[in-house]
Amino acid sequence: MFDCVGIGICAVDYLCLLSHYPALDEKMDAEQFSYQGGGPVPNALITLARLGAKTAYIGVVGDDEHGKFTLEEFEQEWVDISGVVVDKNCQTNQAFIWIDQQTGKKTVVLNKNSTAELMPNELSNRHITSTRYLHLDGRETEATIAAIELAKEAGVEIVLDAGSPRKRIEEILSLVDYPIVSESFCRNYLKTSNYEEGLEKLVLKGASIAVVTCGAKGCYAADSTGVVFQPAFNVNVVDTTGAGDVYHGAFIYGLLQNWELPQIMKFAAATAAIKCMHLGGRNGIPDLNKVNQFLLSKEENQ
Ligand SMILES: Nc1ncnc2c1ncn2[C@@H]1O[C@H](COP(=O)(O)OP(=O)(O)OP(=O)(O)O)[C@@H](O)[C@H]1O
Ligand SMILES: [Mg+2]
Repeated sequence: MFDCVGIGICAVDYLCLLSHYPALDEKMDAEQFSYQGGGPVPNALITLARLGAKTAYIGVVGDDEHGKFTLEEFEQEWVDISGVVVDKNCQTNQAFIWIDQQTGKKTVVLNKNSTAELMPNELSNRHITSTRYLHLDGRETEATIAAIELAKEAGVEIVLDAGSPRKRIEEILSLVDYPIVSESFCRNYLKTSNYEEGLEKLVLKGASIAVVTCGAKGCYAADSTGVVFQPAFNVNVVDTTGAGDVYHGAFIYGLLQNWELPQIMKFAAATAAIKCMHLGGRNGIPDLNKVNQFLLSKEENQ
């Protein structure tokens, strides 16, 4: 039995920390470079695993060095990979990320291999029906819909990381229990800059709890009882890559503990803030002890 099974694209991340954002035709040196595994759902699963949850990843990697590296990282973190498909005919996705040292903001270019897409017939039913939560990024549409159907039948609750609107998103949103969407998704898809209005739309589509994350401005969530706001923690930001992914993982951890919504949001914001103090989506993900110490130190300073 797993606490959370995740389906979504994985990639390896090439990260360059830059003293300033480059102009066209500019040549410059990186302040720091890092190579790590990445992808929204994989990063969320590694967050959950470091916090102590039992997780499994389902997805496709190529039969190449990047794929081998990805699987080795999962194994080191105790994420189950028995549902992963290694496809001899595709290349593992790569993301090239530039981070502006002055703001910690980043630009991500994904070299997505269109053949590295999970198909419904490649889904591991055994994993999907033996987990408490299913976490999705909504990208691999056909496999996502098939997984949702299986999960629903088995009474598994579903979390969605909606960064941008993707194919059949309306249908997917009507089926998930916990949509956690980005500020840009709220603006571009829900067509509102008013977060409370966006949350209300998500709850009307069937969400038990809906969340909008707004980067350094914090996050808003709504359930049937009302709206909760959690400010972001003030930290020395190095790189915000993966902040949302880590927030999702930590939010699911809070759901697994049956915490009240404000406690879940505070915990998720703290876990994401700690990540932001490090380069890359993975290296800075804390364990449970570190998050608790961080929260304690913030309370003492209040
Ligand atoms: N600069 C920051 N300082 C502190 N916390 C941050 C910062 N940026 C993000 N966070 C925390 O992480 C959460 C999620 O971040 P954000 O809204 O940027 O996710 P996202 O839009 O999914 O981005 P991505 O997927 O690129 O990480 C925020 O609600 C906040 O709690
Ligand atoms: Mg995101």
